[in-house]
Amino acid sequence: PANVGILAMDIYFPPTCVTQDALEGHDGVSKGKYTIGLGQDCMAFCSEVEDVISMSLTVVTSLLEKFNVDPKQIGHLAVGSETVIDKSKSIKTFLMQVFEASGNTDIEGVDSTNACYGGTAALFNCVNWVESSSWDGRYGLVVCTDTAVYAEGPARPTGGAAAIAMLVGPDAPIAFESKLRGSHMSHAYDFYKPNLASEYPIVDGKLSQTCYLMALDSCYRLYCEKFEKLEGRPFSMSDSDYFVFHSPYNKLVQKSFGRLYFNDFLRNASFVDEVARETLAPYASLSGDESYQSRDLEKANQQAAKHLYDAKVQPSTLIPKQVGNMYTASLYAAFASLLHNKNSSLVGKRVVMFSYGSGLTATMFSFQLQEGQHPFNLSNIVTVMNVSDKLKQRVEIPPEKFVETLKIMEHRYGGDFMPRRTRLLVS
Ligand code: ACO
Repeated sequence: PANVGILAMDIYFPPTCVTQDALEGHDGVSKGKYTIGLGQDCMAFCSEVEDVISMSLTVVTSLLEKFNVDPKQIGHLAVGSETVIDKSKSIKTFLMQVFEASGNTDIEGVDSTNACYGGTAALFNCVNWVESSSWDGRYGLVVCTDTAVYAEGPARPTGGAAAIAMLVGPDAPIAFESKLRGSHMSHAYDFYKPNLASEYPIVDGKLSQTCYLMALDSCYRLYCEKFEKLEGRPFSMSDSDYFVFHSPYNKLVQKSFGRLYFNDFLRNASFVDEVARETLAPYASLSGDESYQSRDLEKANQQAAKHLYDAKVQPSTLIPKQVGNMYTASLYAAFASLLHNKNSSLVGKRVVMFSYGSGLTATMFSFQLQEGQHPFNLSNIVTVMNVSDKLKQRVEIPPEKFVETLKIMEHRYGGDFMPRRTRLLVS
C-alpha cells in the first residue's frame, strides 16, 4: 500500500479547566511565571466523572461516527498511554466494548507505554502493520490518552488531559515519510513513576529539559543524515514547512525550535540568515555539555529563530497552550492545532514531528500532506475536530476547586474500582 498514514483524527479534552493566570495568583508565584515563563494559557483536568478510559471511549466513538467508519472495518487498535489504570488489563480491552457490539473481536494490538512516547510507538505499530504482509486490508486505529497531574510544586502547572484518536490506512492525506525516522533512546531518570500508589511522577525538571534537548539534537542529526542519503542533498530547516514538537509547556517548544536553528548554524552557517550568524557566532565553540547549560545561548537561539518560529511553529501551539501537557496526546494535539489553523493550505507541505518520552525514548519523523478523498480529507478532519467550539464550550474552574479535585483523586487512585462508561461529547 502507498502513502500509509493518518486518514482521520478526532480529539477530546475535558470541559473543565483552570487558567494559568488564576493559578499564578492561587499559588502565590510571581505574575507571569506560568503565562510567560512557561508560556501556558490554560490547563484542562478531569473532574471526578472522567478518566483516560471515558475520554478514549468518547473519542473513538466520535471518530467512528463522524467519519462513518463501520467498527468491523478496524483490524488493529493500538493505545498509547502512561496513565496506569490497571497494572495488567490494557486500556485497549476497555475500548473493545465499542467493537464487540458490532461483533468485531478480531482486532490486534495492545497498549504501549513509555511516558509521553507511547502514542508514537502505537502509531508506528499501526503504520507498520498496514505496511506489512500481515495486513488484512482493514484500518488501524491509534488512541493516545492521558491525564497529566503533578504533586503540588513547580511542575503542577504543566499538567493537562486529553484523548486523541487517529485512523490509519493507505492513501492518507497525512502520509508518513517512512524512510525518514531518527530515534534516540537511552536510560535516564528525568521523569518516572516508581510509586505505584500514586498517580504523580517524580520529576527532575531541569534534567528533563536537558534530556529532551539532547534527544532532539540526536534525532535531528539522524533525520538529516537519512534525508541526505535518500535525497542526495543536505537537509536544512527550509526543507520543512512546519515543525511540531511534544509540548509539555510552550517555553520548551520555543527553546527546541531555537536549538534546531542552532544545529543548522553549526552544520553549515549558510543555512541560517546573516543576522543569525552574527548572533550565534560567539557560541560556535561551546562543547555539547556547555551548550545545554548556557542560558545566553538559549536566549540567542530563540531570538535568532523568532521570525521562523512564527511561521513554522506557532500554528501548532494552540491546543497545547490551552489544554496543557497531554503526555502521549501532546504531540498529536499540537499537530491537530496546525490542521485547525492551516487547513487545506497544508496540501503539498512537509511537517517534521518530534516525539519525546522521558526515561527516555524519542523519534523525529515527518509527514507529507495531501488533500485526500472525502471523508478522509484535511478540511473534513478540521470540521470534525471542531477545535474552536470545543475550546469555547469549556468551563473555567477556580484553582481552589481544581486542587480539591486532585485531592479527591489522590485518595481514590488505586482504591475503589469504578465501572466505566462512555461519556459522549455533546456535538
Ligand atoms: N515572568 C516571566 N517569566 C518568569 C517569571 C515571571 N514572573 N518567573 C519565572 N519565569 C521564567 C523563568 O525565567 C524560566 O524561564 P527560562 O526557562 O526561559 O529561563 C521559566 O519561567 C520557568 O521558571 P523556573 O524557575 O526555571 O522553573 P520552575 O521551577 O518553575 O519549573 C519546570 C519549571 C522545570 C518546567 C517544571 O514546571 C517541571 O518540572 N515540569 C514538569 C517537567 C517537564 O514537563 N519536562 C519537560 C520534558 S518531560 C515531559 O514531557 C513530562
